Amino acid sequence: MASSPFLLFLTIIVAFFTAMSESTSLSHLEFSAVTGYFLQDDPATDPDTFDYSSTNFGLINQTYDTDDKFDPHHKKTQWERFGYKLRSLNRAAGTNTRFALLYLGRHGEGYHNVAESYYGTEAWDCYWSLLDGNETSTWADARLTDAGKAQAELARDTWIAQIKNKVPLPEIYYTSPLDRCLSTAQITFDDLDLPTGKDFKPIVKELLRETLGIHTCDRRSSASYIRSAYPDYVIPHSFAEEDPLWDAKLRESNSARSARLRKFLVDIFTPNNNKDPSPHHDQDEEDEDTHSANSRVNKDTYISLTAHSGAITSILEIVGHRKFAVSTGGVIPVLVRVERKPGAPPKEEIEPPSTAPECRGDPTTVRGELMN
Ligand SMILES: *[C@@H]1O[C@H](CO)[C@@H](O)[C@H](O)[C@H]1NC(C)=O
Ligand SMILES: *[C@@H]1O[C@H](CO)[C@@H](O)[C@H](O)[C@H]1NC(C)=O
Repeated sequence: MASSPFLLFLTIIVAFFTAMSESTSLSHLEFSAVTGYFLQDDPATDPDTFDYSSTNFGLINQTYDTDDKFDPHHKKTQWERFGYKLRSLNRAAGTNTRFALLYLGRHGEGYHNVAESYYGTEAWDCYWSLLDGNETSTWADARLTDAGKAQAELARDTWIAQIKNKVPLPEIYYTSPLDRCLSTAQITFDDLDLPTGKDFKPIVKELLRETLGIHTCDRRSSASYIRSAYPDYVIPHSFAEEDPLWDAKLRESNSARSARLRKFLVDIFTPNNNKDPSPHHDQDEEDEDTHSANSRVNKDTYISLTAHSGAITSILEIVGHRKFAVSTGGVIPVLVRVERKPGAPPKEEIEPPSTAPECRGDPTTVRGELMN
């Protein structure tokens, strides 16, 4: 039976408006670092000697133009005044702009870090990183060493000290699914005395991983393992049981890694994208509407990320922050402006992946320093 002319007409009209709204709603997010608040964005700060723990996470001691109104009697801490300043930046911003503070944490030392310095980077990259371990040490999905655990404890103690200074607590936590990050986040945040509503319930994010491929330390464990080892963590429905991203023969290029981390940032700043329903989510958390319907950028302001040196390098690059190597276990806050701009995102140049370099000597008989 032929469809009625009216239905056909309706179908055409609907198709027309759908196409039109798609083209007019095309937009993308842009990220930029806001400098002047933290020591780590000051070119005078040496990343090699910077100590986040003894410097209030690098928060610069200064007055802000909003202090007169907020703190006329000079009773508030630097963090409280910073928090007010950030609120006033967000109040003044339109619906297409948000300011957010990213607490970027790197995992503590893992067994792969020890092995790379033991064998030297050359022998590591061409041979040892492809193996799960040697006779006495395992580095596939590397676990934290005792030193790595102590670094995470230092991060915890720094949070405890800064909570006394009224540091704004993360409103949401994200972690890489690699064990060294899951574990670092747990040691750092699990014992903190957090107020209700700000509980530590990190969301495991596939895209927040280290450079993918070849190195077994960057191959994740199964979702079942993560669920049983970290029962309080939120694992999105879309998270595959077995690692879908790691390739034994190909290593992700830096530009591909940055494109992936940009996707991650777009994901976490897109309204309602975080509320991935999961059996690990509380019912009241599901119902809570923290993202106002009219904002076009997610409203979380204080965001904790537990990740890797490569992932952090990419995030800093995407937001236009200067290069800053975070040591194992280190934490740096970075203030970012997130803007929704009309049009398609700019094209990114993405280099192809590479294969493992060939060994120039026998990596099993000589230590790295002899090969160089
Ligand atoms: C700011 O002052 C506090 C307290 O006087 C001090 O502990 C901290 O190290 C200072 N921070 C910086 C970045 O100089
Ligand atoms: C295995 O590697 C570790 C460094 O990661 C090293 O300390 C240890 O001696 C190595 N084991 C053997 C049997 O070579």
